[in-house]
Amino acid sequence: MTFWKPLRTFYIRTTNLTHGFQENRTALDSFYKLWAPLYDLSVSLDSGYKRNLSRMVKRVVQASDCVLDVGCGTGLATLAAAKNAKEVVALDPSQAMLDKLAKKIGREKLRNVEVRNGFFPEGLEKGKTYDSVITSFMLAHLMLRPSRRRRKLGQTYWIRVLAI
Ligand SMILES: C[S@@+](CC[C@H](N)C(=O)[O-])C[C@H]1O[C@@H](n2cnc3c(N)ncnc32)[C@H](O)[C@@H]1O
Repeated sequence: MTFWKPLRTFYIRTTNLTHGFQENRTALDSFYKLWAPLYDLSVSLDSGYKRNLSRMVKRVVQASDCVLDVGCGTGLATLAAAKNAKEVVALDPSQAMLDKLAKKIGREKLRNVEVRNGFFPEGLEKGKTYDSVITSFMLAHLMLRPSRRRRKLGQTYWIRVLAI
């Protein structure tokens, strides 16, 4: 426990540094292009992360749900949701992270995941609704502009929210 806490704090601080990248999309893309090859390895150092994420996703998601995973990255939460839900839409603006997710979807032969490249909420299909929305380790990206983003997050996209 004493080891994981500083590691999680480090991850969150690193992500916090990328607040400004919401304005500079090339910088965000470059940051995750560099991190993507090592992303799953770095997260696996914290063995509790994936385990607890799967546990929480299972608690929120129901078998008949259409689930939205905002900032899905390499899909740690997406895959957990896909195994428990009817359909999952995985949204992320980093193609490098999405490429990792696409490989996993292929390996696991999942047919119920739609991968979308885009920012929240502009990257979503207009008019589509979701039964549950999950997001993990992504909200830190939005914290510099709370007033604008909070208004957006407060709209009706969010039905059941799991944020860690
Ligand atoms: C630290 S990663 C977390 C990935 C994954 N959710 C996980 O738990 O491993 C944060 C992800 O959020 C994405 N992201 C950043 N800003 C975003 C935005 N405005 N809308 C959607 N995704 C965003 C990044 O591209 C990145 O893949």
